[in-house]
Amino acid sequence: MERIAVCPGSFDPVTLGHLDIITRASRLFDRVIVLVSINMMKTHESFTPQERVEMIRCVTQDLPNVEVDTSDGLLADYVKKVGAIAIVKGLRAVSDFEYEFQMALANRKLYEDAETVFLTTTAENMYLSSSVVKQIATFGGDISHFIPREILEYIEKRLVKKERLS
Ligand code: PNS
Repeated sequence: MERIAVCPGSFDPVTLGHLDIITRASRLFDRVIVLVSINMMKTHESFTPQERVEMIRCVTQDLPNVEVDTSDGLLADYVKKVGAIAIVKGLRAVSDFEYEFQMALANRKLYEDAETVFLTTTAENMYLSSSVVKQIATFGGDISHFIPREILEYIEKRLVKKERLS
């Protein structure tokens, strides 16, 4: 049986922290679907779901068992539809825990045949988040330590132009 994992998130945009989790998940499962989903708590989006999908495709090209998809529905429904056995999420610090724990419990209630698996981030990605990256880029700061090289220029151009002029 193929062991499928779904790695969901907003990925607005994908960071080196996300890429680390996706890469490690790809070693644990036969197939990993990175799912660009909607987080209703995050009201300000910088990139469209399709742009996020394309950025993730670009940075995961060399991971043959990783694919990217998007969903505007419930994560649990998607996981059930594709027959995944796990939801993989990265856990940075204690501050992430309560929120992630709540989502894991809710998802398990909605679909009990999948486990939420938490991978702890590496120490250097501990403080990293898409919102921190966006703030730095918007004010013209250096985000090269946080964003995969292949999409760096695209993100810098988009954020500096779009966010500062709006
Ligand atoms: O990267 P994020 O913003 O922490 O990811 C959160 C995300 C998008 C995975 C979460 O909000 C989600 O699963 N959204 C899909 C809708 C859903 O199923 N919500 C209920 C989760 S218990």
